[in-house]
Amino acid sequence: MLRERMRAAESVLVLTGAGVSAESGVPTFRGGGNTAVWKGMPFDVISSAGMLQKDLPAVWEWFNYRRNLLAVLKPNPAHETIASWQDRFADLALVTQNIDGLHQASGSRDVIELHGNIWRARCFDCDARHDLKDMKMDDGVPSCFDCGGNLRPDVVLFGEMLPPGAFERAFDAAQRCDLCFVIGTSAVVYPAASIPEIARANGAYVVEINPEPTPLSSICHEVLTGKAGEILPLLSEARPLGRAT
Ligand code: APR
Repeated sequence: MLRERMRAAESVLVLTGAGVSAESGVPTFRGGGNTAVWKGMPFDVISSAGMLQKDLPAVWEWFNYRRNLLAVLKPNPAHETIASWQDRFADLALVTQNIDGLHQASGSRDVIELHGNIWRARCFDCDARHDLKDMKMDDGVPSCFDCGGNLRPDVVLFGEMLPPGAFERAFDAAQRCDLCFVIGTSAVVYPAASIPEIARANGAYVVEINPEPTPLSSICHEVLTGKAGEILPLLSEARPLGRAT
């Protein structure tokens, strides 16, 4: 059934979460019964708007630690397969909750980042964005090149709004897609988890890929239980764009 749907699909939406990067060595936040903890603080405390106000240097220390972890990690076959789909489907929307930049590192273009990107910083004062790859990070809070103001990670923290336009683009893609993949997310964080629900409500065929069941499994037409890096390459038929000849 899924193969026929993939052959016929014109518009495809892929929603990814931390699980798609697990095989690259990126720790997930939940799944497997554990939740990430930093210096005794649950990740959703250190990664919160409240902590940004209370202790900005500590927030930078946490994201510097995560960035150093990520710096040596590479995309895996799940990222690579999804990247190859942008030349296979006429309309592919890749919506990610991940801030790790591995989709882009594997060649995916125009990634809709719902939760920002750990490789960018944003100025509190002038809102300028800066690429952290160009910055030598010492301890403490980095300053804005443009206005000298304090920078913050350009990541959506708990208690904060999504980046302007990101959810709107994801919502539009969910309304128009005829096939929706939900890959490596525990589907407990909203509004991201509402995207497959919107796709289903608009008639899309919804497929989940995850080693564990999630709250979304019950609304999916198919659930492929297993690792994304093992399952996605199997779905990758080298068939040119559009319908079977
Ligand atoms: N392939 C596919 N899925 C996997 C794999 C794998 N190899 N390994 C783990 N998973 C699944 C887990 O079973 C779990 O359901 O990935 C999911 C990871 O869930 P979370 O850690 O909760 O990550 P995510 O859903 O992306 O979290 C959403 O919450 O913490 C915030 O902002 C953060 O973007 C994040 C958001």
